Amino acid sequence: MKEITHELLSSFRAPAFPGSFFLSFEGIEGAGKSTQITRLKTYLEDKNFRVLILREPGGTPFGEKLRSAILETKSEITPLAEAHLFASSRSQLLTEVIMKELASPNTVVICDRYIDSSLVYQGHARGLGVAEVLEIHNIFPLNLVPHLTFYLRIDVELSEKRQKMRNAPKDYFEARGIEFYKKLVVGYDLMHELFPKRILKLDATGSLDEVTNSILEVIERMINKKDEMVEEE
Ligand code: TYD
Repeated sequence: MKEITHELLSSFRAPAFPGSFFLSFEGIEGAGKSTQITRLKTYLEDKNFRVLILREPGGTPFGEKLRSAILETKSEITPLAEAHLFASSRSQLLTEVIMKELASPNTVVICDRYIDSSLVYQGHARGLGVAEVLEIHNIFPLNLVPHLTFYLRIDVELSEKRQKMRNAPKDYFEARGIEFYKKLVVGYDLMHELFPKRILKLDATGSLDEVTNSILEVIERMINKKDEMVEEE
């Protein structure tokens, strides 16, 4: 497996669109991403932001086709093929939607999963290698990363408990069982260490309100910083 060099890491940057923000949410099944994303949208709209929620894989007509192709496959595909399929959906989403939307000021694009899912699922848990997945993304615009990523951390036991309560059918990845989930948690913790400024690790085992409060505290600081920057201009 390849080495994760400082040079490789430094080629990943957030897009520079003044007044707009690119955010993502990450975590294993049952971490509460959707609920927190919906709450954040309401909060930001109250502050007069235009908010767009996107999901990965998907978010474009082509991406949605890839989503079904991957998640509904009955045959095993290789981790390398998976990584390229997700990256393909992502590059389409970036060009067709994300960059265009961020170009309008006062916009917040929130992605339900983004590059870290590929680094964790394909790179770490499926064994392709984190550096290998980073390299697939080391080309514009795939090297654009969110300004902030909220990693909602729960352990495997809580994830299982919440999945049982939901009783939804398991997709290609969810059906892989507890050992795979354990690798995902280790992988996400590793991503937080690799990108400590961008990825905020939040304990999501507590109540939904506690998690929301932590997220909104960070968002408020982000918005205030933006206002300060505008005043300085
Ligand atoms: P989804 O139903 O959106 O997951 P969840 O509800 O848990 O957010 O399905 C997406 C699945 O695809 C999920 O199991 C994670 C996986 N995935 C990857 O393996 N790599 C990726 O790059 C992305 C975006 C998702």
